[in-house]
Amino acid sequence: MIRPQTHPVVPSPFVTHDPILRLIGNTPLVPYPGVSDDRVLCKLESLNPTGSMKDRIALGILTEAVEEEAIETVVEASSGNTAGAVALVANRLGLRCILTCPEGTSPHKIGYMKAFGAEVHTCPAVESGHPEHYRSVARRIAEAEDAFLINQYENLRNPGVHARWTGPELWAQAGDVMTHLVCAMGTGGLMSGCAKYVKEAAAREGRAVKVIGVDADRSNIATSFYDEPLRPYDTKVEGLGKGGRLPTMWFQYIDEIRRVTDEEAFEQARASAREHGLLIGPSAGAALYVALQIHAERPDAQIAVIICDGGEQYFETLFPDTSAA
Ligand SMILES: Cc1ncc(COP(=O)(O)O)c(C=O)c1O
Repeated sequence: MIRPQTHPVVPSPFVTHDPILRLIGNTPLVPYPGVSDDRVLCKLESLNPTGSMKDRIALGILTEAVEEEAIETVVEASSGNTAGAVALVANRLGLRCILTCPEGTSPHKIGYMKAFGAEVHTCPAVESGHPEHYRSVARRIAEAEDAFLINQYENLRNPGVHARWTGPELWAQAGDVMTHLVCAMGTGGLMSGCAKYVKEAAAREGRAVKVIGVDADRSNIATSFYDEPLRPYDTKVEGLGKGGRLPTMWFQYIDEIRRVTDEEAFEQARASAREHGLLIGPSAGAALYVALQIHAERPDAQIAVIICDGGEQYFETLFPDTSAA
């Protein structure tokens, strides 16, 4: 029913003339082939240059830091998509880049960091708060080097970038029809920023969009949201956060948080690839699982779901049996 193509969007608020950085953003919104009438629309953040929406926060935060503080070195602690994104953007902006990550970080993620020339410090896999934890190490390095620390878990520019860029882009693509927005949550930056923009834009038109965050079953974003007792954190879905009330997590724009088990997330990601040719990561699988759940409950809903990253970097866990016959 909805639209043949969903590309035309708003210009990026972070102006760059760099041909590589210009590839960030402007991601397509495509109907999920498994649902009729284009009722579920997938925003493919997987098509950013390092394969996730973290390219946007790296570009937004670093562009402004360079303009405002004339920084020369950037430091970040990340075992996930943020690391590669920061490495790429630092490379293009001519910044020295130092990244810390825990032991066990996937070779794919380390590959992104090293490919773009970042200095990588691998730290022991200890509890947060321990002085050798990769976030503590990043803090110490930033101080010693007088460097700019991104700190995506506390930096309000993380959700801010999405409120100024991803949210408006999504609204330009589907604001006229969207009734529901679904998105996975880690730092909460992506969901919070998009939710703020979408909620306010809809309110200006006298309408409402329902915003549904997605957490892992054994994680504590939903427990914080609902003021429930904490659960032991244990999920294999990369990107879904441990929880707590972070400054980047703007619960006031979120209506509901649904929990998805690892099995549901992984199986949904597999089904998306196998049945519909859309290769997505497990956190996107979790979000798609919830989007399809809502579609089943409310067939008239027009749902936008954000696909945080693609499945390429998870082949070994998503499809363990990939050895040649
Ligand atoms: C694959 C993936 N999904 C979801 C998220 C959650 O995004 P955010 O931190 O903006 O909440 C992340 C964040 O690292 C991620 O890498």
